[in-house]
Amino acid sequence: MLSKIAPFPSRLGLSLVALVFVALAPPLAAQSFNHEIIFESGFEDGSTGGWGGRGHPGAEESVAVSGDIARSGKRSLSISKRTKTWHGPIFKISDRAKSGDAYRISAWLYYNEGPLNTAVQFSVERSFTDDKKGHSYQNVKAARMERGTWTEFSFDYIVGPDKDQKEIWFYFESPWKSDSTPLVPADTLSFWMDDVRILKLDPESLPKMRHDTPNLSDVLAKRGIDIGAAIGPEDLDSSTQQGQLLIKHFSTMVAGNAHKMDAVAVRESVYNWKTADSIVDFARMTGKRVRWHTLVWHNQSPDWIFKNANGTKVSKSVLNMRLKEYIQTVVGRYRGKVSSYDVVNEVLSDRAGLRTGAEGSQWYDILGPEFIDNAFRWARQADPDVQLVINDYNLASSQRKRQEMYKLVKGMKERGVPVDAVGMQMHISVGHPSVKDVEDTIALFASLGVKVVITELDMSIYASDGEKQKVASDAILLAQARKYRDLFTVFERAAAKGWLDTVLVWGLSDDRSWLNDFPVKGRANAPLFFDTRLQPKPAFWALVDPKQVPGL
Ligand code: XIL
Repeated sequence: MLSKIAPFPSRLGLSLVALVFVALAPPLAAQSFNHEIIFESGFEDGSTGGWGGRGHPGAEESVAVSGDIARSGKRSLSISKRTKTWHGPIFKISDRAKSGDAYRISAWLYYNEGPLNTAVQFSVERSFTDDKKGHSYQNVKAARMERGTWTEFSFDYIVGPDKDQKEIWFYFESPWKSDSTPLVPADTLSFWMDDVRILKLDPESLPKMRHDTPNLSDVLAKRGIDIGAAIGPEDLDSSTQQGQLLIKHFSTMVAGNAHKMDAVAVRESVYNWKTADSIVDFARMTGKRVRWHTLVWHNQSPDWIFKNANGTKVSKSVLNMRLKEYIQTVVGRYRGKVSSYDVVNEVLSDRAGLRTGAEGSQWYDILGPEFIDNAFRWARQADPDVQLVINDYNLASSQRKRQEMYKLVKGMKERGVPVDAVGMQMHISVGHPSVKDVEDTIALFASLGVKVVITELDMSIYASDGEKQKVASDAILLAQARKYRDLFTVFERAAAKGWLDTVLVWGLSDDRSWLNDFPVKGRANAPLFFDTRLQPKPAFWALVDPKQVPGL
């Protein structure tokens, strides 16, 4: 049986999007929340468990348990025969929702026909005790699914401030198009949903950042260091805790993924500026500097750029043209707005010399080594003043790589290539490399007359990929704090010599660090200044007020 909902009112009621808190939910295992299970099912018992279709009775889409496809077990919920973008599976969460109620939803979605990827929208419908107010429809979170791949949607939702809040429903739909807009098949495609879990969280147990500490950026500015963090579009919201953490503590931002070529260059001469711009605009609004990561990288480049229309490998001259157009379009667009670019990323091999096709660089494979010089020259033509950086990892920990970078940049300088700085990523661990190695590396690059930018600092609590997940004990956090303290002493000395002025950490808080999934999938890590509950860690206090850390 389909659950009946109130007749669907006009989409003009789409409003009240403000004051909704949405966050990517951290892995539940990593946190203990008080919660109540509202819904949990993989549809194995054949029941929809209360999920129904949104359409009007009689003309509705079909929402039914199906044995066609499943993410786990044998069954899932199938959503088919949709004729409107807003058709989709809906579930009533509560008859008596209150402002401040907090939910965590996670669900897996799948489709297997039509476009290679498609947008799906998670939305919330609410009613009020005053019927005249009508229903409110909030588009809470849009995400993309890939054809033929189960995709997980997982986030938190907190009910907004309305006092007369009554019922509340969660649903999935396609991004809305009005009835007068012609629909394409992708707008109403059939999909499946499996392994759905909805929790009601104790709002008291949700992370709350602290406003009563000094600002990291003020403290470090006094030591000559501008501190930044990698962020995502979900952080650009000053009503969220993560957004407030960014605004309070960091003076520079860099996109963790959103400025990579696959996010920006959709297809030949077609760009997706929406997210890219939103980061640069937010930085301007909040008075932050913004670094661009990254123009050319062997990872996260779109496939089309290396291919002809018929799918064969593109020629060197065409790829050169495409790369030049890309670099000049991006750098030209953000001239005066972006302060620094990672022009090329990770061009050094893990074995010897430059990274070739054998280590995944299609850029090298098709263009040869000169793509590096060219990329810098094209960027410089588009913005004569911006800082141009060559960025790489393991520069402090590998003597060999450090020397290779030295040689490469020396050669570039001799050839008159406009390289301004070496970016040291610094994905390091508590034990390795030594602080002395870091200092020597900075000094070596500075001897070339270029600056050093610490571009992606984080500090894993693990010594190797083989190590099993462990708790970040007080002893580990203390060791981490010491290492951060000593590193920043080195950075300060380098800053005083004019060798360095900017350090960025790769993420705002431990819950969203990429190291929770890399190099070991699902192994929780704790590499940053703020923990999974957004509380300042000993590492933070080591820089801001060491007295707060006993034993430091
Ligand atoms: C990482 C992001 O943090 C992840 O979200 C993404 O899945 C993979 O890339 N060195 C880099 C960054 O230069 O671009 C990488 O960022 C981390 C390693």
